[in-house]
Amino acid sequence: MSRIVIVSNRTPGKGPAAGGLAVALRKVLSEREGFWFGWSGKLTDQPAPEARFEDIDGLTVAQIDLTRDDHHAYYAGFSNSILWPSFHLRLDLATIESHWYEGYRRVNQQFARALLALLKPDDIVWVHDYHLIPLASELRNLGARNRIGFYLHIPFPTPDALYAIPHHEELMRDLSRYDLVGMQAKRDVSAFTEFAEHQASSTFGGHRAKTVDFSRTEVDAFPIGSDPEAFARLAVSPAATKMIHRMRRAMGSQRLILGVDRLDYSKGLPQRVEAYEKLLTNNARLRRSVHLLQVAPPSRDSIKEYQETSDALDAICGRVMGKFAEPDWQPLTYVKRAYGQPSLAGLYRLARVALVTPLRDGMNLVAHEFIGAQDPADPGVLVLSRFAGAAEIFPEALLVNPFDTDETAEALRIALDMPQDERQQRWQALMAAARKHNVDDWALGFLARLAPGMQDKSTTRDILYLASVA
Ligand code: G6P
Repeated sequence: MSRIVIVSNRTPGKGPAAGGLAVALRKVLSEREGFWFGWSGKLTDQPAPEARFEDIDGLTVAQIDLTRDDHHAYYAGFSNSILWPSFHLRLDLATIESHWYEGYRRVNQQFARALLALLKPDDIVWVHDYHLIPLASELRNLGARNRIGFYLHIPFPTPDALYAIPHHEELMRDLSRYDLVGMQAKRDVSAFTEFAEHQASSTFGGHRAKTVDFSRTEVDAFPIGSDPEAFARLAVSPAATKMIHRMRRAMGSQRLILGVDRLDYSKGLPQRVEAYEKLLTNNARLRRSVHLLQVAPPSRDSIKEYQETSDALDAICGRVMGKFAEPDWQPLTYVKRAYGQPSLAGLYRLARVALVTPLRDGMNLVAHEFIGAQDPADPGVLVLSRFAGAAEIFPEALLVNPFDTDETAEALRIALDMPQDERQQRWQALMAAARKHNVDDWALGFLARLAPGMQDKSTTRDILYLASVA
């Protein structure tokens, strides 16, 4: 059977803190031969050209080091100061330094050279996320003929935002060198199709550039999911229960409104706190009876726009505290650190409302995990941004426009006042959708489409079915 090679910028770390994606792909690799390939997390002056193999909790991982300059241009520069803001439609937050593109390309070439040395002709290669768009081109330029798939974990931009990215044509040509490109949501496939069908050819320098030929690339939506059953078990585990007791001691009978997000401007955190401020302003009866907990682990903090987001959140949380706090009551707690999945599962279980209101998001797995962790008899309510990919899967959530903080405040009030039977009905529908879109089927569905012949006979029928509904 063909081996599977997973490629991503970050490789899974040691220990139990891995997210749903890492767990699912680990499972794929435990059931067949293959390995995970990526950056080691180390910066050196003279990186070795070959990858080092390591066994990480039973998973075979091949890693390469990068130079500090290349990593800066590739990661903080082109990937996270140009592609990330543009793909999230935040061109106002993009910083364009043209030399970053060279670093981005160089790192992709370095990945390709080190990976090619490890590849067998029938290996199936599955590349993840925007850091590595050029990898198939670079591998093919070196002679690789393998089936290569790409999965984008973030939203695909509208054509205007795409045109604003330097070298966007080369990047799109890079995408056309994959056999299969997977996106999170139908919205992303539509944006891609719009670009592909109406490519404005560049006349820069007097030459009409050729349009990109996507005829050999299949593009489709494969909405990622979580493992809701695992979250249901985790939510009643001793570690989760400990967190629930700890919170109950601190909160008494107050109802918990919970947000869990990386500290990123795409998550709409200041708007979320502003919506909460409006909830307290408009509904004096709720003061002292609700509490907002925002968990926001810092992220990419070498980048100015991330520091500014952190400052903006500090300021608005301070404002809400100053306005509503009393000596014996605080309206909110804001925690800038990461928690392990068992503690998060406990927080999800306890929360009456999950506030998942990104301004734009690929899927958003917090929504899936919150649903999995609920008590079926007394579930909480999901307030969800209509601009998260998850909105296509969870229409029974309270869907809001996160830019409209009046609307989000009103959705919060409705969620807090929602009777138990309505909460149960909505949750049952949400849980059914979370089960249907679980992460194991997502991984198998993508691989079955990328390499239809590779499954053994006993599983082929199931997998093809999954692919057709993905
Ligand atoms: C998003 C991206 C991932 C990335 C993660 C954490 O989910 O889609 O590719 O790994 O954010 O960001 P970081 O920059 O810390 O890897």
